Amino acid sequence: MAKLTVMDHPLIQHKLSLIRDKRTGPKEFRELIDEVATLMAYEVTRDLPLCEVEIETPVAHTTTRVLAGKKLGVVPILRAGLGMVDGILKLVPAARVGHIGLYRDPQTLKPVEYYCKLPTDASERELIVVDPMLATGGSAVAAIQFLKDRGCHNIRMMNLIAAPEGVKAVQEAHPDVDIFVAALDERLNDHGYIVPGLGDAGDRLYGTK
Ligand code: PRP
Ligand code: URA
Repeated sequence: MAKLTVMDHPLIQHKLSLIRDKRTGPKEFRELIDEVATLMAYEVTRDLPLCEVEIETPVAHTTTRVLAGKKLGVVPILRAGLGMVDGILKLVPAARVGHIGLYRDPQTLKPVEYYCKLPTDASERELIVVDPMLATGGSAVAAIQFLKDRGCHNIRMMNLIAAPEGVKAVQEAHPDVDIFVAALDERLNDHGYIVPGLGDAGDRLYGTK
């Protein structure tokens, strides 16, 4: 079974509270999501392999460690996932970005795909799928399957807020995909929204409602 990591770092929790607050407008909401994505990326990349290199400091010759060339990819689920990309790229600027366009049909709550563009070498990369919300899990399960159908197998998932239903759905469908979240909320409401959640992430990011 894939691992669920809830990041309870005080900075993440503080910023998440501001993000949840309905008085927070799109500008601040975007900035906070960006900041939290950077903080989360720090933990999500914790197990990246290192290798030793020889360098000269101004004082001495030394052996030190650098990332072992493991190639990363960030895959936002459009649209709300876009809000987390730059925050991750600040830490791993060499990562490539693939986009998967999915929206959740408001009636059926099933994901509808409308776009996909991945790096040509996506299957060789360690991929981080990002989306602020993991609600029913339908979008995440479909996006991960989409990547697997294209030969990608090293996949981890990063969400701001998850519902237990979404975590269960991803763990059942993709037991190899570890999930990293800033909060595991109580439940979904009758409209498939996470409670207490933060509302509609895409609308709040882009001011569309
Ligand atoms: C939201 C969110 C996830 C999805 C989560 O996107 O960003 O992608 O819903 O719900 P699920 O776990 O039940 O599938 P939405 O479909 O509203 O599209 P948007 O990002 O374009 O606003
Ligand atoms: N999508 C969102 O943007 N918010 C939710 O609470 C659930 C799905």
